Amino acid sequence: MFGRVNIAVIGCGQMGMHHAMAYKRIAGVNLVAICESDKKRREEAAFKLNCKGYAEMEDFFNSHPQVEGVSITMPDNMHLAAVKATVAYDKHILLEKPIAIRLDEGKEILDLVKEYDKVFTVGHLLRYDPRFYGLKQAIESGELGDIIHITGRRNSPIIGPRRYIGQSDLSMHVMVHDIDIVNWFVGYPAVKIYAKARSVRLREHKMTDVIYAIITYENGVIVNLEASWILPENSPTIIDDQMQVVGTKGVAYIDACDKGLRFTKEGKGSEYPDTRHWPYVNGSPGGDLFAEISDFISAIQGVAEPLCSAQDAFTAVKIANAIDKSIADDCEVQIQQ
Ligand SMILES: NC(=O)c1ccc[n+]([C@@H]2O[C@H](COP(=O)([O-])OP(=O)(O)OC[C@H]3O[C@@H](n4cnc5c(N)ncnc54)[C@H](O)[C@@H]3O)[C@@H](O)[C@H]2O)c1
Repeated sequence: MFGRVNIAVIGCGQMGMHHAMAYKRIAGVNLVAICESDKKRREEAAFKLNCKGYAEMEDFFNSHPQVEGVSITMPDNMHLAAVKATVAYDKHILLEKPIAIRLDEGKEILDLVKEYDKVFTVGHLLRYDPRFYGLKQAIESGELGDIIHITGRRNSPIIGPRRYIGQSDLSMHVMVHDIDIVNWFVGYPAVKIYAKARSVRLREHKMTDVIYAIITYENGVIVNLEASWILPENSPTIIDDQMQVVGTKGVAYIDACDKGLRFTKEGKGSEYPDTRHWPYVNGSPGGDLFAEISDFISAIQGVAEPLCSAQDAFTAVKIANAIDKSIADDCEVQIQQ
């Protein structure tokens, strides 16, 4: 039998609340505290979650030495500061993706956790989606033969970027999901990138509307990724994503736009609600997020290895960074190994 695992969440906005609600539901997990700088959000969250709320990380860490693990669910541009503080207190860490938005910061995190004797994983949650996981299994078994090419797209309504102005941009926040998945599928390093982008609707915020990226891997696989986050606000789904993997012996398609549940309501149009990332079932988020968070707890208990390592997450950011460079310089970029 395992003892109770004491957990806390740092940054209790959208994702932090989902993480906290998931922890509340896992038997043997004790959600001790949340740390949230926004007073209103902090007070509401602490009340709803029935736990302590802190404005400052230091204050929280010093008040709760019994906490063993934390979810870091702060904005993309604040991950390094939060990881540094958490490593200093020697806690297990589930960090939301991306590992960082700057390559140097990602490298600093990678170095910080290289010899870390605690769990460190990054929330690339598509690895926990049964569709992507199933496809990974099929690739590994050889059923599809050698991969020749992959196409993926991830498009979403403009509500998303408006929440992240000044904190992140499309390559690091969105495309990084598919970059990580493709790296996982291909299993070889990416060597070259060519990417184009446009900024029209988000130009005033110095953010990118759309990216097309072509990535070449060391084993010759070519990958074509598309990401856009300027679809109309009333789009039926929060994410319209697809992937196609073509091998020498077969092809696989993922259509994750199809959530398996559709509504068309008078006066509201069509809605395809989330059934895969964090759909609430009996009061707690399910989906791939719950699987990822449960796996983090299992890793703390020593019975599972998380699916995404610091190195995996850093490699994804390295490629996203090369995509940004290719866009800025309008040329193909070689990736240093
Ligand atoms: N896995 C996914 O599919 C997915 C989806 C959305 C967001 N994310 C990631 O989750 C992270 C959080 O995104 P979000 O949408 O929840 O953002 P959010 O803005 O809703 O939440 C971030 C919270 O952190 C708080 N915060 C900021 N500075 C703080 C500090 N110093 N101390 C304590 N709290 C602080 C903010 O007040 C805010 O409430 C990001 O890294 C994002 O990329 C992942």
